[in-house]
Amino acid sequence: MSSAQTPRPVTVRDIRDRKGKEPIVVVTAYDVLFGRLVDQAGVDIVLVGDSVGNVVAGFSSTLPVTLDHMIYHGAAVCRGVSRALVTVDMPFLTYQIDTQSALANCGRLIAETGAQAVKVEGGSERIAATVARMVEIGIPVMGHLGFTPQSVNAIGVRVQGREAAEAERLIVDAKRLEDAGAFAVVLELMPTGVADRITKSVGIPTIGIGAGAACDGQVLVLPDLLGLNDAFAPRFLKRYANLSDTVRDAVRAFGDDVKQHRYPSADQSF
Ligand code: KIV
Repeated sequence: MSSAQTPRPVTVRDIRDRKGKEPIVVVTAYDVLFGRLVDQAGVDIVLVGDSVGNVVAGFSSTLPVTLDHMIYHGAAVCRGVSRALVTVDMPFLTYQIDTQSALANCGRLIAETGAQAVKVEGGSERIAATVARMVEIGIPVMGHLGFTPQSVNAIGVRVQGREAAEAERLIVDAKRLEDAGAFAVVLELMPTGVADRITKSVGIPTIGIGAGAACDGQVLVLPDLLGLNDAFAPRFLKRYANLSDTVRDAVRAFGDDVKQHRYPSADQSF
């Protein structure tokens, strides 16, 4: 492909400009192979989520995920992506303690992975102040409100914002993140009406997961979208493939070929 045909990399400005115009497509990826495939499929943002802890490492939450895990997976994804905007999650306790350590940690994530942006959970005054400092030193930040998995022990896995006061707090938090300079915000597990109110209250794009159709974009965890995880079937999930059957069938077929001496054949040998 000549340089004239090479698609221009997606920037945070492109993402901001899409609000209210064209829906933004986000999927997670954790390695170079899927990073390359989802980039070739034309997604706008590849999120290296700390969901890597659940879906790749088999942890029961995202809490054990470390900065080094995120750097390893973020760098692998970046080696496969040439167009989409790569955003890497800041894991638990790498940005909540104080702004100084948050800046050092997000600096490492950007410098050592090649990603263009980071994502943090929560919208308190303290988090917003940290986001503002990250943005000030030139690091684009995506927010994350609603069900925030790093707070699972405090809030449980449940839809957020059902009560009026909770919904109001989410709107305040979203505005606070916008004021701090976040370029977009993920809204996870909340009633459609609340996501709609947030989307209309802020000038930055909202990216929904289990938050209905009113958001400016949607994100899904890739192994869920591909049907690689039989055990996870929340109401909001739509599986676009059934790869767990495909994988089992392919590996069974390989096993049968080996046992029946059909693989390798003569023309596959040296
Ligand atoms: O870690 C992750 O994959 C996420 C998405 C669910 C938004 O934060």
